[in-house]
Amino acid sequence: MLDKNSSTQNISGYFQLEPVGSKLADLETPVPVIDVRIAHRNLVRWQEHCDKQGLKNRPHIKTHKLAGFAKLQLALGAHGVTVQKLGEAEAMAAHGVSDMLLTFNVVGESKLRRLAALNSRADMKVVADSEMVVRGLQKAAQASGKALSVFVECDTGMGRNGVQSPAAATSLANLIAQTDGLHFDGLMTYPKVGLRREAQAFLAKAKRAIFAEGLDVPVVTSGGTPDMWKDDDLEGIDEYRVGTYIYNDRSLVERGVCGFEDCALTVLSTVVSRPIPNRAMIDAGSKALTSDLLGLTGYGVARESNFSRVYDVSEEHGFLDVSAMPNALQVGNQVRIVPNHVCPVSNLFDKVVLIDGERVLGAVRVDARGAVT
Ligand SMILES: Cc1ncc(COP(=O)(O)O)c(C=O)c1O
Repeated sequence: MLDKNSSTQNISGYFQLEPVGSKLADLETPVPVIDVRIAHRNLVRWQEHCDKQGLKNRPHIKTHKLAGFAKLQLALGAHGVTVQKLGEAEAMAAHGVSDMLLTFNVVGESKLRRLAALNSRADMKVVADSEMVVRGLQKAAQASGKALSVFVECDTGMGRNGVQSPAAATSLANLIAQTDGLHFDGLMTYPKVGLRREAQAFLAKAKRAIFAEGLDVPVVTSGGTPDMWKDDDLEGIDEYRVGTYIYNDRSLVERGVCGFEDCALTVLSTVVSRPIPNRAMIDAGSKALTSDLLGLTGYGVARESNFSRVYDVSEEHGFLDVSAMPNALQVGNQVRIVPNHVCPVSNLFDKVVLIDGERVLGAVRVDARGAVT
């Protein structure tokens, strides 16, 4: 296992770095910059917490989409990773990551063929919430010549995918257990923020009903960064999936989950125009920051101007409110924006830059960028 006090050099060893200069001023913008020390600290803090709680850590790679960070997470003690799409799993498998839980129904002949190919070279676990999905998974398992582990996805309040009741979870668990080539591995949920207690009640009821049918429930897996530090409603949960915790973002700061000092990814951008004293125009718009609001006002905040807001975006322009410090920023100055929601930002760039404080370590290709199928 990797030393939890690893040096930046050790962390960099997980990546194939391309030289892009040595200081932030050398970088072309907009570009996401990731402070590896902050990311590493976020990973270690959570892994230590999981170890103390006896909770298995299965981080979601959809936030960083980087094989290097997936391997670092595993080296720190994660017992597998979570992926949301087949493309993410393929990108991770290409770098030797094997134990993966794919938390999205695989539907359609061509995707089932891709799943079969993945299952023959990696340790794949998947989810299902209907008989139709289970039937497809059976075909994929047969085509791969290897059993597939299947979790029943439960909608415990999110109102997204998932069976709607403990009784429905029980009958689907039975179907999976009786299907050749499939192994019933347990229950999976992604609870709505603040609804973990409701999730726990649903899962406990489903588990009891499945036990009563004579089946085992090997793993109950839950997740979510916003509630990750709340321990009071985790009884019955074996495994926890967190994604955003590696980088954090403005939405998590606003929720009180972390501070700005814990935000590892910022979007480095340049002031390109100062048309009026109260407004600085930057070169990061919706194509760099996304237009996700997550209930917040504005599209991100700038560290260099006292966390003033990017109050509007067009595709390539960001409108930064500098009314509180009208003389602070000039054309050519760089600012680092903490985005509202960091996960989709990773999907917008072919490459990100790793840094250590103000020192640039190198650029790295985002392995699963655009892997949305
Ligand atoms: C199924 C599933 N599990 C885990 C996560 C991780 O959530 P977070 O990024 O809040 O940690 C997500 C996030 O979208 C998810 O969809």
